[in-house]
Amino acid sequence: MPISLPPVTPEIRSLFPAIAGNPDIIHADNAATTQMPVSVLAAIRNYYETHAANPGRGAYEWAQDAQNIVLETRLAISKLINLPDRNGIIFTSGTTMGLNMVAQCWGKYCLERGDEILLCLSDHHSMVFPWQKLAEEKELVIRPYRLRANGSIDLDDLASHATEKTKICCVTHINNIAGWLNDLSAIRSLLPENVIFNVDAAQSISHATINMQSCGIDFLSFSGHKMFAMTGVGVLGVSSRMHSLMRPLLYGGGMGEARQGSPLYERIEAGTLNMAGIISLDAACEFLADIKKYDLLPSLSRTLYERLLANPRLDLIFEQKTYALDHLCGIATFTIEGKDSGEVSDILSAYGINVRAGRHCSGASDSVRISLQIYNTEQEIHKLCDILEEISQK
Ligand code: ALA
Repeated sequence: MPISLPPVTPEIRSLFPAIAGNPDIIHADNAATTQMPVSVLAAIRNYYETHAANPGRGAYEWAQDAQNIVLETRLAISKLINLPDRNGIIFTSGTTMGLNMVAQCWGKYCLERGDEILLCLSDHHSMVFPWQKLAEEKELVIRPYRLRANGSIDLDDLASHATEKTKICCVTHINNIAGWLNDLSAIRSLLPENVIFNVDAAQSISHATINMQSCGIDFLSFSGHKMFAMTGVGVLGVSSRMHSLMRPLLYGGGMGEARQGSPLYERIEAGTLNMAGIISLDAACEFLADIKKYDLLPSLSRTLYERLLANPRLDLIFEQKTYALDHLCGIATFTIEGKDSGEVSDILSAYGINVRAGRHCSGASDSVRISLQIYNTEQEIHKLCDILEEISQK
């Protein structure tokens, strides 16, 4: 569960130049991208200002430094997600690549005609499309499970779709529209040990504690740019039991000496790694460890939902009850009676408020999404909700 702590301080906002430098902007589209703290910016700048080098491509000191940073970051990430074997930390371009790799590097080789996949069709297209494509190619069977009306995974429905042919269960820790933090241990306990557990952690990596080992997760994908690091970098965490079953997605430099027993990352990461991105991930891990204790999202979410629920012309896509608001991680998605979502977002933008409008890369209906981060304040939420009330009354 997320940790609830002291109120957001001006110090937290001052750590983010884009937030501190734009006091008239309310950034409430953090599920799309978070802002970057000074420590992450400084680490990226330091890399380019001191010495950029290609890891694993030279014996000179700069290249060795780059190699050490990569190893150090694998270690930092393995601690962040509690995956003891850091050989299973694979750098990707982001969540989309990680999720596609699960289908292409494992599913394509290990699944056979008639094998079944548990999948929620309300999840992000990056989770759904790779399996639909592979199912079409290999005649696999997708067994879709539902979300409850409040946006949490319907565990009974999921369990009822598991059969002896189920090979993989795909789960989104926090759905990018619903915002509900699903209980990964509870889901794992419903699945036989041989079923592969594939988790999208794009929306939860900056908000919740994730433990790949204790939750029996086989694949975990997330992006740098939703955890205060750069775009274009991400991670696929792979459990030890999957290492020997994975084949590369791309072939190229860095793989020449790799053999079947080599560390997974040596066998599967082709080409020059995104060094600046990896450095940003390393710094972001340190930042996350420092700010976990200031995680305010449960209380900010509560204020946001209490205000939205009090607006009779606003319809939340997922119905919430005030007693359950602590499960929500700062994401609220809604429509306003008689208004188009683009129109609402344009009006908010004119007030300096950033939200996302549309279908959010999923099968959701056209809607407006607010998504919060640690630098948002109660005052910002009240201002945003006051404006939404004005919009609904026009
Ligand atoms: N997946 C990101 C979002 O939901 C882009 O906004």
